[in-house]
Amino acid sequence: IRIHVPCDSAALAVGADEVAALIAAEAAQRGIDVRVVRNGTRGLLWLEPLVEVETPAGRVGYGPVDPADVAALFDTGFHTGASAHPLSLGLVEQIPYLARQQRLTFARVGITDPRSLADYLAHDGYRGLRNALAMAPAEIVAAVTSSGLRGRGGAAFPTGIKWNTVLKAPGTEKYIVCNADEGDSGTFADRIIMESDPYVLVEGMTIAGIAVGATRGYIYVRSEYPHAIARLESAIAIARHHGYLGNDVLGSGRAFELEVRKGAGAYICGEETALLESVEGKRGIVRAKPPLPALAGLFGKPTVINNVLSLATVPIILDKGAAYYQDYGMGRSRGTLPVQLAGNIKHGGLIELAFGVTLREILYDYGGGSASGRPIKAVQVGGPLGAYLPESQWDTPLDYEAFAALWAVLGHGGIVVHDDRADMAKLARYAMEFCAVESCGKCTPCRIGSTRGVEVIDKIRAGTQPAQETVRQVVLLRDLCDTMLHGSLCAMGGMTPYPVLSALNHFPQDFGQADTSQH
Ligand code: NAI
Ligand code: SF4
Repeated sequence: IRIHVPCDSAALAVGADEVAALIAAEAAQRGIDVRVVRNGTRGLLWLEPLVEVETPAGRVGYGPVDPADVAALFDTGFHTGASAHPLSLGLVEQIPYLARQQRLTFARVGITDPRSLADYLAHDGYRGLRNALAMAPAEIVAAVTSSGLRGRGGAAFPTGIKWNTVLKAPGTEKYIVCNADEGDSGTFADRIIMESDPYVLVEGMTIAGIAVGATRGYIYVRSEYPHAIARLESAIAIARHHGYLGNDVLGSGRAFELEVRKGAGAYICGEETALLESVEGKRGIVRAKPPLPALAGLFGKPTVINNVLSLATVPIILDKGAAYYQDYGMGRSRGTLPVQLAGNIKHGGLIELAFGVTLREILYDYGGGSASGRPIKAVQVGGPLGAYLPESQWDTPLDYEAFAALWAVLGHGGIVVHDDRADMAKLARYAMEFCAVESCGKCTPCRIGSTRGVEVIDKIRAGTQPAQETVRQVVLLRDLCDTMLHGSLCAMGGMTPYPVLSALNHFPQDFGQADTSQH
């Protein structure tokens, strides 16, 4: 009997290792022939550790399993998959949260053992690279362009166009850099890929290298992700050993090597040029653009720099074809978006869906409403620099352009939920404070503006001054946001006004202002 227990950090944090060991010990004691397999997470995080028993009908799930539940699970015959134990969830693939998703980038996640190359190959792994090796570089780039894939790090720039710039750039030395600094609040999709399906990222980067003529790649991972780093390093070593990396990738005569670089915990190192500085061993400070990294990036050479999710989506595009991927989505937002649902929500986790689903569907049909059971007041989409959306905007489809029309962003797909107890002026202050703490200090609107922003919001929140003075401070705050928006060198200072102004515009009463909003 094969029993799967996840080994990603979310499951480990709630005792998965102990559960796995207890299952093996209990089975041995009872003389039951059980093989414990460590899979990745399904992304249904409130059910972790989610234990799955393989049966002829499919995998039957039990969760969340506490170490104290293991003996009772065996008593009810859970290892046969037919147990009526209260933790039984039935067939995992039929749990509505999972069954209703469209998993393309995450197709294998939770199913395979992330440590096993054989398992990766048995689940369509490396088919994309094999196809790519039979194509001319420009054909690979054209496939990525026509798939419609846009940068999933947040900026949504067309991936194929970026690759084309690097392909056409003169020079024989080029690089592929993967941004795995995932610093946004409430986001964990990059981490899940790296921990639960690392080979898909290795394959995606190899395809990128073959496509643009780069022979070396770097994965820049935040140091807060030790499990992801270990898993990637092991996947790289195994892939190299089996000829998927090295001087002669699968006997094609093409070379590609990969290396993991560890960040040191600065949010700004997720900004692409600061990240490049950090990989080069310097302090993470933003470079002025132009030149674009595509033309002069790592060590001054043409560089493809993409987020984990963008690169991990490339293998399926090269395997199933650009049209297959392009078929999902709406408008100019093609394919799927891996949404990460977090904060005050009952069912937090990873939800990969074609663009077009609404926020309300995500919050209630998937999320099941707030964890506190209280009404949801606001959701922040796109990380700490994303706007707060009030209920009047929850019927907006997840689509880059529809969000831009609301002066909001989808960003990296993180959604953080707040209930009716949230003080939006306090959250606006937090955004300014975050900017002040994380600013690289290169430009004045961000470095100084964020500190002044905290002071102004403090004065507004104090509520001890005449109403006229509060109005004057609000005008000042808007003016400051305008300067940061238009005068900052990068998105750190340039986007901090998003959470601040959306909070002020949609929830003026929290700033001691009359409620003139429409929600
Ligand atoms: P950007 O719009 O300046 O650039 C997007 C990408 O396209 C960059 O890689 C840029 O070099 C490239 N590019 C632009 N024009 C090009 C051309 N003609 N040829 C080739 N490449 C070209 O946006 P930026 O500043 O890189 O990113 C800002 C975004 O990052 C925000 O929208 C935010 O959502 C996101 N973000 C994500 C975080 C995360 O944890 N994933 C954290 C913070 C921000
Ligand atoms: Fe640095 Fe902030 Fe200016 Fe970006 S906006 S370059 S983080 S000071």
